Amino acid sequence: MTTLLIQGGTVVNADRAFRADVLCVDGKIAAVGESLQAPAGATIVDAGGQYVMPGGIDPHTHMQLPFMGTVTQDDFFSGTAAGLAGGTTTIIDFVIPDPQESLMDAYRKWRGWAEKSAGDYSFHVAITWWDESVKRDMGTLVQQEGVNSFKHFMAYKNAIMCDDETLVNSFRRALELGAMPTVHAENGELVYLLQQEMKNLGMTGPEAHPLSRPPAVEAEAAQRAIAIADVLNVPIYVVHVSCAESADAIARARARGQRVYGEVLAGHLMVDESVYRHADFDFAAAHVMSPPFREKSHQQALWRGLQSGNLHTTATDHCTFCAAQKAAGLTDFSKIPNGTGGVEERLAVLWDAGVNTGKLTPSEFVAITSANAAKLFNIYPRKGCVAPGADADLVVWDPTATKTLSVKTQKSLGDFNIFEGRTVTGVPSHTVSRGELVYVQGDLRVVAGAGQYVKRPAFGPTFEALGKKAHLAAPVPVVR
Ligand code: URP
Ligand code: ZN
Ligand code: ZN
Repeated sequence: MTTLLIQGGTVVNADRAFRADVLCVDGKIAAVGESLQAPAGATIVDAGGQYVMPGGIDPHTHMQLPFMGTVTQDDFFSGTAAGLAGGTTTIIDFVIPDPQESLMDAYRKWRGWAEKSAGDYSFHVAITWWDESVKRDMGTLVQQEGVNSFKHFMAYKNAIMCDDETLVNSFRRALELGAMPTVHAENGELVYLLQQEMKNLGMTGPEAHPLSRPPAVEAEAAQRAIAIADVLNVPIYVVHVSCAESADAIARARARGQRVYGEVLAGHLMVDESVYRHADFDFAAAHVMSPPFREKSHQQALWRGLQSGNLHTTATDHCTFCAAQKAAGLTDFSKIPNGTGGVEERLAVLWDAGVNTGKLTPSEFVAITSANAAKLFNIYPRKGCVAPGADADLVVWDPTATKTLSVKTQKSLGDFNIFEGRTVTGVPSHTVSRGELVYVQGDLRVVAGAGQYVKRPAFGPTFEALGKKAHLAAPVPVVR
């Protein structure tokens, strides 16, 4: 294993930034301090004028996902490699059992697929149906497999949609187990109805996609999930919050003292819904994902949510389909496989649009790109923090270097880049995964299978006290 000394940089954690060297030994951070001596044989990285930050954690990706009749372009190797090229060292992906499929069977299948990962990975498990075996398997996953979060798709009717009965049963079980329920908040019945109505009106192209999934459809589901979580006194994490209405619902609940957490996608912060009206089907379809990209005014609401602390994490929902796959919906927009990429670009896009504009400090950037996800999914400070004892997952960040993002240069296997042509200032010069240099000034040195599965322990037995009796609850997510 490499011994690595990163010299002369400014360490940025979520709580402070300070000048320090970082010594990595055997995959862990061994020391953080001024003027550290290089052990014999150590590899030295000169980080002068650069920031040394925890590697990004993307808490929402879909590698090798079978979805809408096809499978994503990026598998766990290419997808994690693309992440490493962009400074993201850990992903949390999703096991999505088919309805009636055993949770454990699906979990083992995904674990097998992920063995080729180049970077670290973990799994949320989706609850797509309910019976006693699902309840039992949730326990096994939490207590033996290090899964501490369960996902509920409130959309995708006739596929993986979760009804209220399942939501309630699963939220209650998650509470018992000390696991975090998460939701894709869109009212699937309304989406289905609006899709039919669009098609009846003769609207069959991608321009109908956002019309069938308006903000009110997302807000209804977000409010419902938040209300159910409130009654059951369980915390809740809302994935890919895309609109002001959902962000407001979260802010209102938090103002009432409820523990609600929100995730924002880099794409929703940067891309607006005009893309769906583009004359070229391939271009418009390439942007079809759910919830859809929104009018620009929503982007301001999402940034404000991150700035105010009412929204907590950023992710990508990386889920890449190529043009040939998107063409399945050439005459029916509801058949376009939903998903877009971004695992490689998230950090650079957020630095450029967030830090360079003054919306975020470097420490706030670390909070929303790694530390908060690590806290909410209970792997902090092993991940998300530059400190002795933590995994040596680091990104050395050159705040002056620029890059123009493009499908032509991306490592991701997708044939499209939703950030195409955007020139960003601030990019990784080096990425370190468990103490190994995996990206050096454009040179990607990834190894299939080098990534490790990250177990995430359940929250403590007092997790049930979350919500109204917070003083009793420790350990719990400590994100504010
Ligand atoms: O369009 C999306 N987001 N595709 C991936 C599945 C999901 O909803 O997260
Ligand atoms: Zn989703
Ligand atoms: Zn997703």
